[in-house]
Amino acid sequence: MLHLTPRLEAVADTVEPCECVADIGTDHAYVPIRLLQAGKASRAIAVDIHKQPLENARRSIVRFGLENRIELRLSNGMQNLRAGESQAFVVAGMGGEQIAEMIEATPWLRKTGVQLVLQPMTHCEDVRRALRKNGFSLTSEKTVAEGKRIYLIISAHHSDDVQMPVSPGFDYVGALRPQEVETDRLFLLNTLRRLQVKAEALHGKDETAVYRLEAVIQEVSDVCR
Ligand SMILES: C[S@@+](CC[C@H](N)C(=O)[O-])C[C@H]1O[C@@H](n2cnc3c(N)ncnc32)[C@H](O)[C@@H]1O
Repeated sequence: MLHLTPRLEAVADTVEPCECVADIGTDHAYVPIRLLQAGKASRAIAVDIHKQPLENARRSIVRFGLENRIELRLSNGMQNLRAGESQAFVVAGMGGEQIAEMIEATPWLRKTGVQLVLQPMTHCEDVRRALRKNGFSLTSEKTVAEGKRIYLIISAHHSDDVQMPVSPGFDYVGALRPQEVETDRLFLLNTLRRLQVKAEALHGKDETAVYRLEAVIQEVSDVCR
């Protein structure tokens, strides 16, 4: 069995059983390999925008004898995937802005039953905003510590339910449970520090933005208390 780091282990754990999983920005293809080994998916599509990562993926796939079950595909985001090919989509280890753009650029993703497993390295609020605006609800969120960092993993499903209006801090807090989970609390305290630095930098330059940020800061600090 392939050994995964805690971050990728948590990503793989979050994927629900499905026929085919697509891993966008796969690089070494560790996540699809693990999902097939664990019997969570029968097939996988390992996607990357660059040829060298796909070559890394090919080597790992051959090492584990999964050539007949994992397809390699060169694609920018989900552009070269087709609706219905996969039921679960993983995007891990990329910036939140980039993940948000992929969600926006792929209207066929907005289909009941599709699971998105997203692990943004930055700007998690952009990912939640894109999910919310495109009719996805947050099914679960978890944080995992690896080395000195804490990573966020979001699971989302499309839903036809009308989205409720959200509070100013929603996109920063999401479904995290800082009162119960210590890594959730530490993750949100980092978010809080980032927001405070941003608000300080904007003082005297854009008071409207500062006012908006202060409402977010208040909400994030309240949930961490
Ligand atoms: C930092 S690696 C992450 C690898 C793996 N998903 C992980 O979490 O360990 C990012 C990978 O995403 C690929 N990538 C970057 N932008 C992409 C895009 N728009 N579409 C598909 N792949 C992309 C890169 O080539 C690289 O292999």
